[in-house]
Amino acid sequence: MSDTPSTHPINQEAVEAAVEAALAAFASAATVAELKAARTEHSGDASAIAQLNAQMRQVPKDEKAATGKLMGQARGRIEGAYKGREAELIAKEAAERLVAETVDVTRAPVRARIGSRHPLAQLQDEAADIFIGMGWEIAEGPELEHEWFNFDALGFDPDHPARAMQDTFFVEPADRHLILRTHTSPVQIRSLLSRELPVYVVCPGRVYRTDELDATHTPVFQQIEGLAIDKGLTMAHLRGTLEHFARQMFGEAAKIRLRPNFFPFTEPSAEMDVWQPNAKGGARWVEWGGCGMVDPRVLAAAGIDADEYQGFAFGMGIERTLQFRHDLNDMRDMVEGDVRFNRQFGGLV
Ligand code: FA5
Ligand code: MG
Repeated sequence: MSDTPSTHPINQEAVEAAVEAALAAFASAATVAELKAARTEHSGDASAIAQLNAQMRQVPKDEKAATGKLMGQARGRIEGAYKGREAELIAKEAAERLVAETVDVTRAPVRARIGSRHPLAQLQDEAADIFIGMGWEIAEGPELEHEWFNFDALGFDPDHPARAMQDTFFVEPADRHLILRTHTSPVQIRSLLSRELPVYVVCPGRVYRTDELDATHTPVFQQIEGLAIDKGLTMAHLRGTLEHFARQMFGEAAKIRLRPNFFPFTEPSAEMDVWQPNAKGGARWVEWGGCGMVDPRVLAAAGIDADEYQGFAFGMGIERTLQFRHDLNDMRDMVEGDVRFNRQFGGLV
């Protein structure tokens, strides 16, 4: 045909160029998706080969058979090249997927550090849950507290030693009378002022004192406060509640004792000690918290008739609880943030 000059555009060069372009595009397609796009471009309705085919009508009768054959062969080569490349690419993609999805069952597992809550935070929840289990509610108060709630309402005189600079963190400006609460007892007052009677609440929370960091003290620590106000509550209810709490925390064999003491907001007041058989330096009693029967003056300040309602309150140290429970000799380990300490309590991989 090339040696027969022709007026219609379907000549061997044009057809060959269209076929070559298609074959090159198929060969360079790297994925089945790319290959499909190349097919649309090189043999779809708008492709060079389709445009040539559209010219068939203009082909003179005597050339129709030869031109038809030329076009048929061209389409055949394009289609054949497509099929061949498609098979190659499907096989290649399947092989790649197999490699990508291979699981090496002999590989060492990744030891990810998943982290966990601090043992003190866990213990605080566990302690609160004991009371929730008895139908008590959780009460909260601010850590930045007004002096009135922390001291005055609880019967601390203006010149009480606990208010002195060496115990309390005062917050400037001084005339706002804001302090970092030194105990969770102000939540007693907040609860009595905001709740209906009877009241059975626990308040776990952070408190602050200017204490030196040593084996049994830290300047930032946590307490769990309890307050029960109802008709007919006595010291026996207080003792029973604390014994239950101690057994849940330290086991059925836990030994506790109440020792007379003084707090300005309870009367009578006591300190509660726990027997520590494995203490460094020998078995001994250690102070766990303070407690007592709520002073009628505190009830009166909250507008409660002390002839009708009585109650008890207590406040235990959470750090001390963790310490006694696990025979930890030094409270400093709890606050220094070394994960090897936390790991002993589980949770960290
Ligand atoms: C109080 O804070 C009273 N609010 C307790 C109370 C509540 C009495 C309700 C009556 C009624 P005390 O200052 O003793 O009391 O502290 C209670 C407990 O907190 C201590 O027994 C101890 O377990 C813990 N604690 C006190 N100071 C520290 C400290 N610096 N570091 C760690 N724990 C402490
Ligand atoms: Mg004390």
